[in-house]
Amino acid sequence: MKALITAGGRGTRLRPLTHTQNKHLIPVANKPILQYALEAVREAGITSVGIVVGVDNGQEVVDWFGDGSSQELQITYIWQEAPLGLAHVVKISQEFIGNDPFVFYLGDNIVVGGINRFVREFTDRTVDCYLTLARVRDPERFGVPEFGRDGSIVSVVEKPRVPKSPFAVSGIYIYGSAIFEAVNSIEPSQRGELEISDAHDWLLKHGYKVGHGEITGWWKDTGLPGDLLEANRLVLSNVQVQIDGNVAASSDIAGAVIIEEGAEVIASRIRGPAIIGRGAKIVDSYIGPYSAIGVDALLQKCEVEYSILMDRVVVNEVDVRIEGSLLGADVEIVRSQGKPRVQRFVLGEQSRVEVI
Ligand code: TTP
Repeated sequence: MKALITAGGRGTRLRPLTHTQNKHLIPVANKPILQYALEAVREAGITSVGIVVGVDNGQEVVDWFGDGSSQELQITYIWQEAPLGLAHVVKISQEFIGNDPFVFYLGDNIVVGGINRFVREFTDRTVDCYLTLARVRDPERFGVPEFGRDGSIVSVVEKPRVPKSPFAVSGIYIYGSAIFEAVNSIEPSQRGELEISDAHDWLLKHGYKVGHGEITGWWKDTGLPGDLLEANRLVLSNVQVQIDGNVAASSDIAGAVIIEEGAEVIASRIRGPAIIGRGAKIVDSYIGPYSAIGVDALLQKCEVEYSILMDRVVVNEVDVRIEGSLLGADVEIVRSQGKPRVQRFVLGEQSRVEVI
């Protein structure tokens, strides 16, 4: 079995972070989002992985993951000339996949608990297509399955106005070769994309077997900063304590806290679950639950909770607690010096700041 993982697309809903970064490299609990997909397929015993990247922002992904040897994987990159839809992604990957069955994994999805069970069920049930479903509050934003009397899926509709079930088709699918017949038969949708839901519906209408399983602990980006923070919370909820860095006796650490090698915690209080990245320095500060602090960050005399601070962020002498925040790499929040004491901002396009 092979895996096909997406890392293209536009990432418009995660601006401004995606102005300067491919969304799949945004860190969640200090690992790029795409890393979770790679780990899930490796744990399922798959080593041959195709990553589909866009011509405009794909090189960053290639530079980060290379040939996959550091992940114990063999990675082949497949270049998509424009984001023409998920079924288009499958279509252009036919040569890489050949006749093998494969997991199609949207690289911006995170699943806690892995995919082994689904791979097993796909094989045991000898289906042509296996969909993983998640119960969601807002199915109208997703591809939604409709079930027949025997409990099997009879149709899948993309973003229906009136959903026929409370389930969303999540971003992890498993296919046999029939999917290529489907993606080569369907037409682009009104928004000009080859939709994967149309491919699934084509399989159903042409008598192919479509199985499904329910997934829990699924996260899909939905575009607001709060959604990334939720992904971070989901992942951190499952970590175990691991202290490899240096914690001075003056500090107080409790709960599931990961302190990576080379990090230093001095005269500070940390309440897990939280992760402090390699080489980060936390001095006279409080780090509360669901915080991820990036590599080489420097936090001094400040309080941070339920936030993602990316690599090399500096927060110095800020006397309001930073909560529910996303700070991109190299962002600095520091106390102003001199008179008059003012708030001074240098913010990139589409940044957002809330002041009190
Ligand atoms: P989406 O989240 O549907 O799209 P997007 O990443 O472009 O984001 P936005 O809507 O905010 O602009 O994409 C799901 C996944 O599929 C994600 O990993 C990006 C990837 N993708 C491709 O690689 N090629 C494509 O043609 C499309 C549509 C998505």
